[in-house]
Amino acid sequence: MTRARPASPYLAPDFYDRALAEGRHRAIVGGRWDETGRLQMDILRDAGLRPDHHLLDIGAGALRLGCRAVPYLDPGHYWATDASRALMLRGREAELPDPARLPEDRLIEDAGFDLPGVPGCITHAICFAVFTHLPRDVVAGALRRIHDRQPGLERFFFTLFLAPDGAEGAVRQPDGVVTHLDRPPYHLTREDAARLTRAAGFEPVFSDRMLPRGQVLIEAVPVRSGS
Ligand SMILES: C[S@@+](CC[C@H](N)C(=O)[O-])C[C@H]1O[C@@H](n2cnc3c(N)ncnc32)[C@H](O)[C@@H]1O
Repeated sequence: MTRARPASPYLAPDFYDRALAEGRHRAIVGGRWDETGRLQMDILRDAGLRPDHHLLDIGAGALRLGCRAVPYLDPGHYWATDASRALMLRGREAELPDPARLPEDRLIEDAGFDLPGVPGCITHAICFAVFTHLPRDVVAGALRRIHDRQPGLERFFFTLFLAPDGAEGAVRQPDGVVTHLDRPPYHLTREDAARLTRAAGFEPVFSDRMLPRGQVLIEAVPVRSGS
């Protein structure tokens, strides 16, 4: 009997267990380890991230960003969520120059973007190469909860694949990845991405910064009542 392919590799049975057993924690998050970690750190530094700020890395994977952010931030100021806590723990153990700077309770398993146990002190957040694997309604709900549960958020960045307005079917992104409206990797039109970001309580700012695989960086600027 042939088994149906899961919509996203992250949903395949035993995906994390098998990859971690084979020592593939870097591959799980797509490789390009140094380049992508450095890029995320540059985005945050350019946005004014200081060591005393509190950073939330949503869908943090094996800490491709964390292995740079943890040494930079004051101890305990880096928080991370992911569908797999085992993956984050492996990153902590294998990739951090000094794992003691990152208490294990900062690594929170969360596949629903509910941010359980994340305190309300977060000032900066990033969700890099995560929403690209998820359908529109999941992204919309995630953005709403991030907005509502983090009242002190100053800067928040996420990535998507975009499709030209009116695109039907698959879209070939600038570096060759083929994206879809109804299966991963997902794309949205710019207009739809703006609409769902606004519906969550943010104003979107689209960046023209070049990102791996042709993803687009969006800054979601929180709109608070009275602001
Ligand atoms: C391409 S990796 C990016 C990881 C990290 N942001 C980085 O740039 O290194 C995608 C990550 O999203 C996580 N993920 C997938 N579905 C998720 C969900 N529903 N909730 C939270 N994390 C999820 C995966 O476990 C994986 O670590």
